[in-house]
Amino acid sequence: MRDFDNNDGHMIFGGMRAETIADRFGTPVYVTDENLVRENYRKIYNAFSRHMDTVIHYACKANTSLAILRILEQEGSCIDAVSIGEVLTCMKAGFQPARILYTGTSVSSSELKMVSDLNVPINIDSVSELERLAKMRTDIPISVRITPGIGSGHCDKVITGSEGSKFGIPMDAAVRTYGRALELGFKPVGIHAHIGSGGYTAEPFIETVSILADLTNQIKDEHGLDLKTINMGGGFKVPYKPNEPEMDIGEIADAVTDIILNETSVKTIALEPGRYIVCDTTLLLTRCNDVKRSGTKNYIGVDAGFNTLIRPAFYDSYHHVAISNKFNKACEGKYDIVGPICETGDFLARDRVLPVPEEGDVIAVYNAGAYAFSMSSTYNSRPLCKEVLVKDGNAELIRESENIEDLWRHQIIPKRLL
Ligand code: LLP
Repeated sequence: MRDFDNNDGHMIFGGMRAETIADRFGTPVYVTDENLVRENYRKIYNAFSRHMDTVIHYACKANTSLAILRILEQEGSCIDAVSIGEVLTCMKAGFQPARILYTGTSVSSSELKMVSDLNVPINIDSVSELERLAKMRTDIPISVRITPGIGSGHCDKVITGSEGSKFGIPMDAAVRTYGRALELGFKPVGIHAHIGSGGYTAEPFIETVSILADLTNQIKDEHGLDLKTINMGGGFKVPYKPNEPEMDIGEIADAVTDIILNETSVKTIALEPGRYIVCDTTLLLTRCNDVKRSGTKNYIGVDAGFNTLIRPAFYDSYHHVAISNKFNKACEGKYDIVGPICETGDFLARDRVLPVPEEGDVIAVYNAGAYAFSMSSTYNSRPLCKEVLVKDGNAELIRESENIEDLWRHQIIPKRLL
């Protein structure tokens, strides 16, 4: 897990004291260090591109903030988008349609039409989608998402590649689907699989690429089609706990590029990391409202709940926490960090050993860059929070918080009720 400098009991993030950022912008606030986004992108790109032509499709579902998309556009990234909303957001951030790959699931014909009208390449999730797209147009690049029968992920909810999954085309129908695509007039350019998110070991990724390489050769033999790209999806693990080892991305890159280069005539590998690029670049800063003892429990009540960060409540995910203004000070007790949402399941962290907390302390929640703001909600009528970007000691607001009026903006009271 990435940790941060300590200056006399104060956590330093992006060259600034975390509590200074909290004081200046208010809490709760997501704070991202631009340098870390660039560093993570370059690390994963370099691991693969030293072997072969590499295209990174940043899985923007992890974090669609326009400023962060701009940073990745500047780095040369491409995009994995799952909805017309993500496609248009990335275009707003400066991505040309050709740099976006649309991988939808349960795709409506109207969305398919909008995406294909924009000339965005499409990664096909079902035969139904293929047939419906053929009636619209066949002159855009497509690839096909395969269900390889291999799953990987930090919990069941995020495993996608196992047999029987709702995602992709089953292995036994894969070669036939390419035949059908050719018959319909498409010229498929790639093959894709995404087996899940945050899995712990390298083997499933390597096995998956082996399967995709095999299928690529069968497609060439049976249909004379030379695919240009093998896309191995995303899902690379990021450590969330102190002392948890990093996934060896170099080992995965060495193994999978070796398979592609030695076993196929494919020249380009694509991958779709989301979490790997943005997760540990961001802290959620939340202020302590109150401290309470109840039975055997000690609670720190803060101003962010599962409306702001749902991962602990939804997946039982661990996010490391620290009191940023008592950073690395002696710890004395165990605390649950809980939010302002009126449900018992509203917590950010449980049983954490921390220094004595006080009202006004600023708690930093680590690894809050991926699936954090992007999964937040306005439950309990709490407006969405702010985002700030820091770089070398400067902090800038990149998203204003919503206000209460925003909660009413799209609602209509029928006249007869007035
Ligand atoms: N490609 C496809 C087709 C995907 O569906 C996903 C994630 C990715 C790439 C990126 O996966 P990553 O590299 O970020 O693991 N909300 C969950 C994670 C759901 C991931 C969904 N798909 C969480 O908070 O852990």
